[in-house]
Amino acid sequence: MIMTPRLRRFMLTAHVTSSVGLLGAVAGFLVLAIAGLISQDAQIVRAAYPAMELIARFVIVPLAFAALLIGLVQSLGTKWGLFRHYWVLAKLVLTALATIVLLLQMQLIGYMADVAADTTLSGSYLREARMTLVAHAGGGLLVLLVPMALSVYKPRGRIRYGWRKLQERRAPLVR
Ligand code: HEM
Repeated sequence: MIMTPRLRRFMLTAHVTSSVGLLGAVAGFLVLAIAGLISQDAQIVRAAYPAMELIARFVIVPLAFAALLIGLVQSLGTKWGLFRHYWVLAKLVLTALATIVLLLQMQLIGYMADVAADTTLSGSYLREARMTLVAHAGGGLLVLLVPMALSVYKPRGRIRYGWRKLQERRAPLVR
């Protein structure tokens, strides 16, 4: 079902707000993860992990789901479709993968927030876990830049199913 122009613009505003907001929130999370790893100031390290948990739980996870769901509506409710253009499908796959990895990291994020609240995370204590969070946040940010660029460039490639649909529309079969 194709959306009316007014509804499409409204949903597009919501889509861009949630998805680009997601990029910004992950960037903020990454800065805190780096501070938690390298800062010499114990207070900053201690404060970073609970702040990361709050941002992840109340900003990043909701925005990731919003970007996915509204992206789906935007695909199915416009001429773009979900399986017609490679750029749309690639956005879905990359955003879904990033969201799955994020959900898998939530336990570690919560654990680090608890540990930081109870102890001083000095020197190399839990260094591997702290590096894991930096790597996943950095990787996630890089991955999400791809859907961002795809949205603006909208490379031409059509999926075969999409080709067929286009041909059928241009030259309907006369039986
Ligand atoms: C973090 C991930 C995402 C980012 C940063 C993002 C960003 C954007 C941006 C900036 C636009 C506006 C482009 C324009 O109007 O020229 C857009 C449009 C669009 N996005 Fe996304 N998006 C993301 C995820 C998704 C997902 C998961 C889907 C599909 C399942 C999707 C489907 C679409 C579609 C179909 C449009 C065109 C809508 C229209 O023309 O009305 N996006 N996206």
